[in-house]
Amino acid sequence: HTTNIILPSLLASDWSKIDSEVKRAEAAGAQWLHLDVMDGNFVDNISFGPQMVQVVRKCTGMYLDVHLMIHRPDHYLERFIKAGAQNITIHVEAQYDTSVAETLKRIRAAGLHCGLALHPSTPFEAALPYVKDIDLLLIMTVVPGFGGQPFMEKETMPKLAAARDYRDAHGLKYHLEVDGGIYTNTAPIAKQHGANLFVCGTSSFGPADMKQAMSDLAASVA
Ligand code: DX5
Ligand code: ZN
Repeated sequence: HTTNIILPSLLASDWSKIDSEVKRAEAAGAQWLHLDVMDGNFVDNISFGPQMVQVVRKCTGMYLDVHLMIHRPDHYLERFIKAGAQNITIHVEAQYDTSVAETLKRIRAAGLHCGLALHPSTPFEAALPYVKDIDLLLIMTVVPGFGGQPFMEKETMPKLAAARDYRDAHGLKYHLEVDGGIYTNTAPIAKQHGANLFVCGTSSFGPADMKQAMSDLAASVA
């Protein structure tokens, strides 16, 4: 949790040429790629499922960080594992056939890293029962569902700092990831409050020169 990583979010790429977009991210220096799965139920948008994760897996050796914005993630879990994810993040607010704890356990048992995500309106305390068992805590900095929304600084930065302070006071190791509205002006604010994984959609895939965009983002949190 001490290295800063910029993760391009595939949601903001040009889906008419996924293969070359994935390779553009890789050539721009990305080591991790963020994939947003939306079910039209947990969030008000529908994106893609395990088949897309599998397609991306075929295009690249990058670390695939899969963000499940879906209900019943435990029901679909096996398909995302088989598709080639390295990290699977689930939302604490989602509905489960089993439970959050059981789902995290299954992700780990499959040899993957696991993450827990908090909606902007969900307090850090909701994550407390699970913090010992996660590799990553995702503090959403926009209401999940769409790219291109403004960074919710006031609503989310105190929570991010609380998550960092709790981790450091208890000898825990989870990464702190922020997702939504991350640009060169907001990434440093998130870093100051404890983030080390920065999901960047519009700010990474948006510019024509992605390599420059990635290095500007990295420099902003160096
Ligand atoms: C939002 C998604 C984000 C999204 C971020 O629900 O979880 O990963 O791609 O997009 P930007 O960086 O454009 O806010
Ligand atoms: Zn995301």
